Amino acid sequence: MPIQPTVAPIRKAIIPVAGLGTRMLPATKAIPKELLPVYDRPVIQWVVEEAIAAGIEEIIFVTRSGKEAIENHFDAHYELEHRLERKGKETILKTVKDIIPPHITIVSIRQADALGLGHAVLCAKQQIAGEPFAVLLPDVLVLDAANNPHGHSFAHMMAAWQQSGHGQIMVEQVAPAEVEQYGIADVNGSSIEHFASSPIHQLVEKPSPAEAPSNLAVLGRYLLPAQVMQLLQTTPAGAGGEIQLTDALDSLLKQQPLGAFLTSAATYDCGNKRGYLGANVAVGLRDEKNRDYLSKLISE
Ligand code: G1P
Repeated sequence: MPIQPTVAPIRKAIIPVAGLGTRMLPATKAIPKELLPVYDRPVIQWVVEEAIAAGIEEIIFVTRSGKEAIENHFDAHYELEHRLERKGKETILKTVKDIIPPHITIVSIRQADALGLGHAVLCAKQQIAGEPFAVLLPDVLVLDAANNPHGHSFAHMMAAWQQSGHGQIMVEQVAPAEVEQYGIADVNGSSIEHFASSPIHQLVEKPSPAEAPSNLAVLGRYLLPAQVMQLLQTTPAGAGGEIQLTDALDSLLKQQPLGAFLTSAATYDCGNKRGYLGANVAVGLRDEKNRDYLSKLISE
């Protein structure tokens, strides 16, 4: 029988949170954009829950000064917990205590200079310590259909890593005019099914619609081999004068395969007003207690 290569499980996730949130000003003047609530919890809590549900055990925030409230949100708050306990407010207490299960470690690392997503990821190199890792962008809410038989897209993509040992990048189809806002994956014209992965031929960061090789946009969920860190060390500044993760991943393709994993989930970029509003409505409609109220409000 052929010996199956063992694929190292991905346990660590980098979440870059050093962005200034300028697209959401003035809301984000004093509050990190990652802490703006989507319905009943900060957008970043949704993203951390998504990572944990897929088996991640260590969350590494790449952060900056002025964003300490993010770390506080994921830390214990003894006075609050004590008071809620004394007043017998068990349900609320549970929502506070359950934010981070006991087996999860949270680490934070500073990014002193905003040199791009690739640079933010590289800041976590020592903490990643030669292991494969995940990257989740905190602005993006990935909302899988509640009755989706495949479960959560990110957990499903983790299974694709486990089966193939190849890095995976989650993609979605976008309108041709929107390609210039994203990293775009070229899969040599092959048609991918939802929740399946197809080998990537090339990756381009923010191409013009005329130059884009496809409309498959990188949406902000990655499962990557450790080698990416070495490549990032020598990746020059690219689109927008920033060190781009997409460029390092394009170089990685010369050494090993990467898969484009197509999701059918609805995604919302909560870093802009439209996506943020959409996320709140979409999540609100999932709560049975408020669904009728919200539907009525919208139809009026
Ligand atoms: C980043 C990535 C880009 C990706 C996008 C998803 O760009 O560089 O490849 O498609 O996130 O939101 P940014 O939105 O930070 O400019």
